[in-house]
Amino acid sequence: MYKICVFASGRGSNLKAVWEYVNSSSLDIEIYCVVSDKTECGALEFAEGKGIKTVSVSGKARNGFLTYDDLIGEFKTNKIDLIVLAGFLKKIPDNFIDAFPERIINIHPALLPLFGGKGMYGMNVHKAVYNSGMKVSGVTIHFVDKIYDHGKIIAQKCVDISNARSPEEIAGLVLRQEHKLLPELIGKFAESKVKIDNSKVYII
Ligand code: GRF
Repeated sequence: MYKICVFASGRGSNLKAVWEYVNSSSLDIEIYCVVSDKTECGALEFAEGKGIKTVSVSGKARNGFLTYDDLIGEFKTNKIDLIVLAGFLKKIPDNFIDAFPERIINIHPALLPLFGGKGMYGMNVHKAVYNSGMKVSGVTIHFVDKIYDHGKIIAQKCVDISNARSPEEIAGLVLRQEHKLLPELIGKFAESKVKIDNSKVYII
């Protein structure tokens, strides 16, 4: 059994894509829990509807929230294999990152190292891409390190945006590819097909 946790702050369409993949795949993958910095959002609602355990996390001790330290304990005890950030808007504390080296991945809706970094999330990314005049955008999935959108790139997919007339249109084109790339890559992790060699990541 390959156990993953999905962290999300918003509508949860990537979570849904992952859930659909996990449910139709012959691979033995379990979404162990869905974690949010919110107490209500689309992703939590989706998880509750599917009977997946949900957790709200906070950097400080708060009623109704676990801390990141609580999560480290829980994930170690339950042997979580992979932590997937899919639209999670809070910065992950350094000690959490240290606890799971190269086991936290993030999906970013542009081609890193372009259009990343602090403040580059959601429509901010697509507006910047649109204003740049670039003809391609895409999806990047990377390991999470202590700097925003900086860790080793694992997988990318280009998207032709030459006919896109608005940032919203770019967002839609990119999202369609996110929903393919993320589940497929999780499958590769579950099959131990993601290998790291120095600073490069290969999918074998
Ligand atoms: C996605 O575009 C993802 O790349 C970004 O945040 C968005 C989350 O969308 N990090 P959803 O909540 O999965 O629908």
